[in-house]
This record gives sequence, C-alpha cells and structure tokens, in this order.
Amino acid sequence: MSFCNCHHFILYLLLVLLLGVNNAVSEPEEYKTYIVHMDHSLKPSSFLTHETWHRTILQSLSKPVHDKDMLLYSYNHVMHGFSARLTPSQASEIKRSPAHIATHEEKSGKLFTTHSPQFMGLRHSSGLWNASSYGEGVIIGMIDSGVWPESESFSEKGMPAVPTRWKGKCQNSTINPFPCNRKLIGAQVFIKGSQAAGESDSPDDTPRDFLGHGTHTSSTAAGNHVPGASQFGYAQGVARGLAPGAHVAMYKVSSGGSIVESDVLAAMDQAITDGVDIMSLSLGFYPTPYFQDIIAIGSLSAIEKGIVVVCSAGNNGLPNTTHNAAPWITTVGAGTLDRSFTATVTLGNNQTFEGESKFPSRVLVLDTPLYYGKGDFNKTICRPGALSENDVFGKVVICDNNNSISVFEQAGELARNGAAAGILISDSIPDGIDQLSIPSLILSSSFGASIKKYATEAGDDDARVKIMRFVLTSFGTKPAPQVAGFSSRGPDPINPNILKPDIIAPGVDVLAAIPPTIPVQYFDNYVLASDYALYSGTSMSTPHVAGVAALLKAVHPEWSPAAIRSALMTTAYSIDNNGTTLTDQATNLPGTPLDYGAGHINPNKAMDPGLIYDIDWQGYVEFLCGLGYNDTEMKAILRQSQWNCSHEGTDVNYPSFVAMFSTSSPNAKNFTRVVTNVGDDQSVYHAVVETTYGMTFTVEPTTLTFTNKYQKQNFMVSVQTYGKGPPVTYGYLKWVDQNGHVVASPVVVLNS
Ligand SMILES: *[C@@H]1O[C@H](CO)[C@@H](O)[C@H](O)[C@H]1NC(C)=O
Ligand SMILES: *[C@@H]1O[C@H](CO)[C@@H](O)[C@H](O)[C@H]1NC(C)=O
Ligand SMILES: *[C@@H]1O[C@H](CO)[C@@H](O)[C@H](O)[C@H]1NC(C)=O
Ligand SMILES: *[C@@H]1O[C@H](CO)[C@@H](O)[C@H](O)[C@H]1NC(C)=O
Ligand SMILES: *[C@@H]1O[C@H](CO)[C@@H](O)[C@H](O)[C@H]1NC(C)=O
Ligand SMILES: *[C@@H]1O[C@H](CO)[C@@H](O)[C@H](O)[C@H]1NC(C)=O
Ligand SMILES: *[C@@H]1O[C@H](CO)[C@@H](O)[C@H](O)[C@H]1NC(C)=O
Ligand SMILES: *[C@@H]1O[C@H](CO)[C@@H](O)[C@H](O)[C@H]1NC(C)=O
Ligand SMILES: *[C@@H]1O[C@H](CO)[C@@H](O)[C@H](O)[C@H]1NC(C)=O
Ligand SMILES: *[C@@H]1O[C@H](CO)[C@@H](O)[C@H](O)[C@H]1NC(C)=O
Repeated sequence: MSFCNCHHFILYLLLVLLLGVNNAVSEPEEYKTYIVHMDHSLKPSSFLTHETWHRTILQSLSKPVHDKDMLLYSYNHVMHGFSARLTPSQASEIKRSPAHIATHEEKSGKLFTTHSPQFMGLRHSSGLWNASSYGEGVIIGMIDSGVWPESESFSEKGMPAVPTRWKGKCQNSTINPFPCNRKLIGAQVFIKGSQAAGESDSPDDTPRDFLGHGTHTSSTAAGNHVPGASQFGYAQGVARGLAPGAHVAMYKVSSGGSIVESDVLAAMDQAITDGVDIMSLSLGFYPTPYFQDIIAIGSLSAIEKGIVVVCSAGNNGLPNTTHNAAPWITTVGAGTLDRSFTATVTLGNNQTFEGESKFPSRVLVLDTPLYYGKGDFNKTICRPGALSENDVFGKVVICDNNNSISVFEQAGELARNGAAAGILISDSIPDGIDQLSIPSLILSSSFGASIKKYATEAGDDDARVKIMRFVLTSFGTKPAPQVAGFSSRGPDPINPNILKPDIIAPGVDVLAAIPPTIPVQYFDNYVLASDYALYSGTSMSTPHVAGVAALLKAVHPEWSPAAIRSALMTTAYSIDNNGTTLTDQATNLPGTPLDYGAGHINPNKAMDPGLIYDIDWQGYVEFLCGLGYNDTEMKAILRQSQWNCSHEGTDVNYPSFVAMFSTSSPNAKNFTRVVTNVGDDQSVYHAVVETTYGMTFTVEPTTLTFTNKYQKQNFMVSVQTYGKGPPVTYGYLKWVDQNGHVVASPVVVLNS
C-alpha cells in the first residue's frame, strides 16, 4: 500500500501538459470494459488455469481490482485473454506486462432485425431434406436474445437422443423454470458485459427470450414441424425450420436489444467448448480490421475446429456497408419471397384491383359507398383534421399519395372519423403496414388512377365498393426473389478484394415462432399477440443459411466450413422467377454481385456441387500475412506466437473473384485457384466464360480432368479491362461437366 499513487500523478501531469487540461482536481476515472489479449505461452506454470492467472493480474494492479466481478470472462478458445471492467490507467498498466499482446475498449453492436422452405425448393420425398434426414444429429448454436422453450417449434416430438458428444448445459433460472429437451438441448446466458456497461436493465439470469428475435431465428434454423401456424391468418401453413431434425443450443447475449463484445465473445467461446457444429449470429458490430473484430477473431477459432460460422451482413441497405465479412465467415444478405399479402377491392363497375395489406383479421366489406375528397386537395390526401365524420362515416375512403403525410397518419384520420376501410395510394410499401389502425389496402398509383377516375365519374352518390376482402396470401409473385432494400451491400469496407455478401436467403416477411408475450400489433385498444410472426431483416436470412449448412453437414460430415460455403455459393442462382437478373428492391434495377454475392441459396443443388473451393487454416494464415499485419496484430487474431507466412498473398482460394482497378489504362489481374472434385470419380469439366461490356477474362487450362474423388486441380483466371469501364462490371466463370454439374463463380471488376 502506498500513500501516493505517484505513477498516476505523473501520468496526470503529463496529460495536463499535453492536453492543456486546466482543472486542477483529478476526475475519478470511469470504468469501462476492455478486451485484453495475452500470450498464453508466457503464463507462469504456477497458475493451473488461465482464469486464476487473469485474476492475479487484475489483483496486482496498483489500484487493485478486488471486486471479483471486475473480471467478466476468461476466454479459452476464441482468444487467449479476458475481458474486465478497468479504468484507463489500469488498462495501461496491464499493457506493460510482457505477456500482454493487445487491448481494446469494448464496443456495442446490435441485432439485425427491422412458406420459406418450399420457396427454397426443399421437398419431403427427395433432395437435401431426404438425404440429410432433416439435419439429424447436427447441433446449431444460436448466439442471440434467448429462446421461448415452450413454443411448439421446440417440441422434441420425433427428435433423436441428444448426441453423446454434447457438453453444453441448460441453465435453469431462479425466476422461472427453463426446460430443455431433445430439440432444445442447451441454453445459457452471457449478459455480464452488458449489465456492467449499463446496457441491460434486466437482472434476469434466464435464457428465456423477451425480445422475440432469438425465438424467431432459432425456429427458422431448426424449428420442428408445426401445422397451421400463421400471423393472424397471413402466411398460413406448416411452420418448420430449415433443418427440423437438427438440435438447437441457445447462447443468450442480449436482453435489451443491444449487445456488447465481451458477451458475444464469451458465448462463442462456450459454443466451441460445448461442441456445436454450426454457429449462427444475426447480429454485429461496426466493421473494423480483423484483429479488432471479435466476431472475426472468435469465428477463426471456430473454423479451426471445423465449425461453420454464418453471420448477417447487416441492414444498412447501402454500398460498402457489409458487416461480418471476414473470408472465413459465411456472410448472408436478404432476399424477398415469392409471396405477398394482399387484399382486393371490386368496384361498382365490376373492376377488381389487388393491393397489399396485412390487416390482421378476416374482414369483408360489402356494398359500401366510396368516398374521394370532393375535389378538396386536403381531403383527397386525408390530411389529419381535413375529413369529417359526416362525409366518411361507414364509407370506404380513397387517400391520395402525399409524401408529407404517411399512410399511418391517413389511416388514423380515417379511424377517427369512423370510415369502414381505406384505399391508400402509394407506390412503395412502407414498413409496418400491419400496424395500420383501420382495414387498409395499399394500392399502386396506376390502379389508384383507375379507382379515382371511377369515383369521380360515378359521383359521390353512386360510387360504391361491391366487395373488399382482406387476409389473402398469394404465391408466385413476380419477380422473386429480389434483393431486399435493407440488405447491406458490398464491397466489404474492410477488404473490398473479397466479394461480400457471399449469398442471399429469404429475409422479408419470414414467418417463425415468437414468445406469446411479444405484442405483434396494437389495434384500437387491443394488443394482439401471436405464437408466430412475420419478421424481416438479414437476421432472418442468416438462420436459413445456418439451417441449410446443418443439412449439408449431415450429408457430408467430412466437409470443411469453406467446402460447405463453396457448395452454397457455386450452386446459388442469380436469375429470378421471371427469367431476369435478380432485381434490387431499393432501386428497382437489376442487382449485381455486390448486392447478392454469388446469388440466392439453392439447397438441393448445394448437396451435389461437383467441385469445391476448399480453404484450410493455413490458407487463412497466408491471407492474413498478405494483409501486412504486424506481429502484434497477427498474434491477436491467431492466438499463436508462431505462424508460417511462406506463401503470403492477399488472395485466398475463394469461390468468387474481385479485381480492383484504379487507372484508366488497360488493367490486368491474375488469380490462381484450386478445386477439389467431390462428384464422380471420372469427370471432365470445361470452362464457360460469360462476360459483359467493359471486361473480359480467360481461364487456363480450360479443361480439368479428374480421375478420382477428392483429386485437386489448379487453374488460373486472368481478368482484363481495356480502359476505364463502368464502376461495377461482372461476368461468370462456370465449370460444367458431363453429368450436369455447373460450378459458377461471379468475376467482378470494380473501377475507381
Ligand atoms: C432418400 O434417401 C434414401 C437414403 O438416405 C435414398 O436411398 C433414397 O433414394 C432417397 N430418395 C430420393 C427420392 O431421393
Ligand atoms: C428449474 O427451477 C425451478 C424453480 O425455478 C424448479 O422447479 C425446476 O425443478 C428446475 N428444473 C430443473 C431441470 O432443474
Ligand atoms: C357486374 O357483374 C354483375 C354480375 O356478374 C352483372 O349483373 C352487372 O350487370 C355487372 N355490372 C356492370 C356495370 O358491368
Ligand atoms: C390544406 O391544409 C393546410 C394545413 O392545414 C393548409 O395550410 C392549406 O391551406 C390547406 N389547403 C387547401 C387547398 O385547403
Ligand atoms: C403534398 O402536398 C403539398 C401541399 O401540402 C404539395 O405541395 C405536394 O406537391 C404534395 N406532394 C405530392 C407527392 O403530392
Ligand atoms: C418479366 O419480364 C418481362 C421481360 O422479360 C418484362 O416485360 C416484365 O415486365 C417482367 N415482369 C415483371 C413482373 O417484372
Ligand atoms: C468504404 O468504407 C470504408 C470505411 O467505412 C472507407 O474507408 C472507404 O473509403 C469506403 N469506400 C468507398 C469506395 O466508399
Ligand atoms: C502493430 O500495430 C499496432 C497498431 O495496430 C501498434 O500499436 C503496435 O505497436 C504494432 N506492433 C508492432 C510489433 O509493430
Ligand atoms: C511453411 O510452409 C511451407 C509450405 O507452405 C513449408 O515448405 C515450410 O516448411 C513451412 N515452414 C514451417 C516453419 O513450418
Ligand atoms: C498473368 O499471368 C500471365 C501468364 O502467366 C502473365 O503473362 C501475365 O504477365 C500475368 N499478369 C499479371 C497482371 O500478373
């Protein structure tokens, strides 16, 4: 003990001098969470565990950290080190330890929310569901907001025994019981970090989900069959996850929507220890270089153990915003389904129009007067306060589009004046139309024009609606899929040389289980709840891919995470159900691989891809060497003090290609790749080159001949441009064999 903490005083003086701080009294320092990487080869052997070593380090600080809660987590697999609540001076003191590698202050992040199995081509009697027995025996670890164990989606009906290799726990709660079973085989809570940071006001220790996010994502990945599920009659059908035969383990990292790094890292550490096969993360932090990105660091350790890590790309909807894009992660964007929720209106002249609606009950409006504004502009746009009960009570009211007034305000004005229903004209479908306070149909402006013409011509006394029907689900919507407007786009802000996202999967209006305590809709004075709800986000598309990865793992247990991703990517499609390139919902123009990566997931094809682009641990090490990271940075991400950089290069054996050119003179870039034959012993593949304006590429050799399964062959792709082309241009390399395998890769040129 000392009376003068001289060291801190000198540091403070220095700060005063350097920063010109002029208050003489030292402010008490704030505690923050730091993530500290340590070189475990320097752990004195007197410490039996890392945790006792970490505790001793904390206790030996000059302003000792006695409170045992200051150590949040000691990590074993994801990294060597710990997270702790420290003052900045304590953090700098730790930095002087010879075993210290790197420290960074914790950041917070968020969850990515704002008839899918059939749409994806999965059928009971054949294909991937049949071959994988629905993913039997595979364990999917969900890093999310908890789970509602009593949901029918987590019933153990028909499930096999818990695999004997499983080491996970089911954390019971002191508040209310939490049961696990043969479907939901584990559930644990990791919210110490967010509690310490004041980001969680929930003192609970239960893995139970109070947000709905984790229940939705887990039932999407591996929910059991539940017939008759729907959100108030929309999307009615059998709810089931992508891998209904797989087991689920929940690692709860969020009780209030925000998440912090120390918790997510602890959850990933535990999932590796427990023995999951797939990890699914529908969440993320602001993109940073890999050596500071805890999801990148944690997943590289998972990949080393053969665990597939699937993560959301994020919901920023803009170019250069992909999250979780390290090349060992499978990064997922979102697409639409071929399903829409509609209502129809038939006018007095027998014309019928279809529009969008999610009004939550089966309403039928019969033979009702139609009202349209009486030539008063404010009435035609249903401006709040403009309508009167005398005019509109009991009528169907048309509201013109006016960007300054939202459909929610319009519906509110109609509800206040007792209208029977609304026809709201809008060319975009706003988020949350299931929250409109009156039965409403959103109609396109072209249909709107016909209805307004009828209403004006027929006149107030005669204009009528014969029938309006709500709660209809229609399938086969064209074009589908489209890239969801909110889905984060490439290039990856951290490393634009690797195409991200990798793939898209359904993420718009996905029906899955939620806790019955979550309000789905507020309507009049009622709060409506449902056991199943439609959610949208890359949070929803990610568990689709995790579920399909589980099915592939069941069929091909020997495949590496990179092999599974390669199979998903090279069999994905980029042509929609109307025969054209996937549309970008944000612009209504054809999308590019920066929006949809290799394309939309196609599970049955992924089962038998023909060739795979594999990457082993050393492949990722060489990739990191090529990024020019220094020793400190390499140690932080590799958890090793030695590695082999003999073959460094920024390229990695990826199933897609990106060439970045910045001059207007002719440009060229070569890529080398190795493919492994996972199809028939004897196969001959020919290269098919598809290019578009502004670029071309050649392949050498153009024929690959295999005589054995698992045989490898090399080839080179040379991309050329002749002068400055458009900012984004792309083509496809397809290896095609005699048995119908088509192994497709996008080849993208970015000109800046
Ligand atoms: C279903 O799987 C079984 C074995 O897993 C296989 O024998 C059978 O041919 C498959 N059926 C179809 C239609 O693919
Ligand atoms: C879980 O805790 C509850 C009390 O909250 C208890 O009744 C129940 O038996 C416990 N369940 C298990 C499996 O330990
Ligand atoms: C509308 O259809 C009904 C029955 O099909 C028919 O009786 C009526 O004449 C039609 N009205 C008009 C305006 O075409
Ligand atoms: C419409 O309402 C606004 C706001 O109440 C008012 O300023 C404006 O004069 C009205 N326009 C017409 C044409 O009545
Ligand atoms: C919305 O109303 C304002 C007047 O209140 C008008 O100036 C504007 O053009 C209208 N916008 C549309 C899209 O109709
Ligand atoms: C389908 O494609 C055709 C041309 O190929 C186009 O004219 C039509 O508008 C498309 N339909 C939709 C719904 O996009
Ligand atoms: C992409 O984002 C990164 C980081 O946010 C930034 O440094 C980079 O300049 C951006 N690239 C483009 C092409 O906008
Ligand atoms: C490596 O770079 C980091 C910055 O990311 C720097 O703080 C550190 O001192 C460097 N380490 C070495 C060994 O050069
Ligand atoms: C590094 O890798 C190369 C080949 O990839 C190998 O020849 C060399 O022996 C390795 N070095 C060490 C120290 O493992
Ligand atoms: C690509 O490889 C070819 C053949 O090996 C070589 O002639 C060419 O110079 C290479 N181009 C680049 C940009 O490295």
